[in-house]
Amino acid sequence: MLGSFCLSFPDKFVFNSPIAPKQRWARSMKVLIPAAKIQSRVVELALQIANDYQDRPVTIIGVLTGSLIFLADLVRHLNLHLRIGFIQASSYRGATTSPGELKVGPELLPDVRGRHILLLDDILDTGQTLNRLVQHMQTLGVASLRTGVLLRKQGRQQVHIEPDYTGFDIPDAFVVGYGLDYNDEYRHLPYVAILNDAQ
Ligand code: XMP
Repeated sequence: MLGSFCLSFPDKFVFNSPIAPKQRWARSMKVLIPAAKIQSRVVELALQIANDYQDRPVTIIGVLTGSLIFLADLVRHLNLHLRIGFIQASSYRGATTSPGELKVGPELLPDVRGRHILLLDDILDTGQTLNRLVQHMQTLGVASLRTGVLLRKQGRQQVHIEPDYTGFDIPDAFVVGYGLDYNDEYRHLPYVAILNDAQ
């Protein structure tokens, strides 16, 4: 299987393999969390989540698009009664709304009323996104609500929100890979890397 084949090699190999990005990308980024480290942490998180929910059915709601890879890897380690759904969150940049104001797109959200929800995002930065989404979910009559993030940036949080599950604390830098993007690129990288020239 290609995935496990890649994961059994150091990230340098993955990076230089035929499925890795072209070499020009290598100049502008530095691997922060290698693929193997992410995979083992995802297994740890899955064990913790499975232990917490046990016989309770859980609906995992991924925040699009950044949580996609994290969610896909995580759920395959979860031996639980499980549903999956998605929610969109994007910042308004229009003339009539202040920059950064968050728009919630619930079109892909399944019926969450009375369900145990685990809201999953890629990264907690200022905390605005997760906080806003938690507020939104709480209006929908969920039975319980927990949150999980793969990454939490240190020294950036503006609103107090403590995720129930956190993969890694990272320094204040712009990161890409494993779902995280720059102009919608780099989401497919199996590791998390600091993009040096992000503007
Ligand atoms: P807040 O500030 O609301 O941010 O906690 C959460 C959302 O902002 C995006 N974000 C990033 N995306 N690299 C990215 O690719 C980063 O370093 C980064 N920091 C924040 C992301 O969409 C996240 O859901």
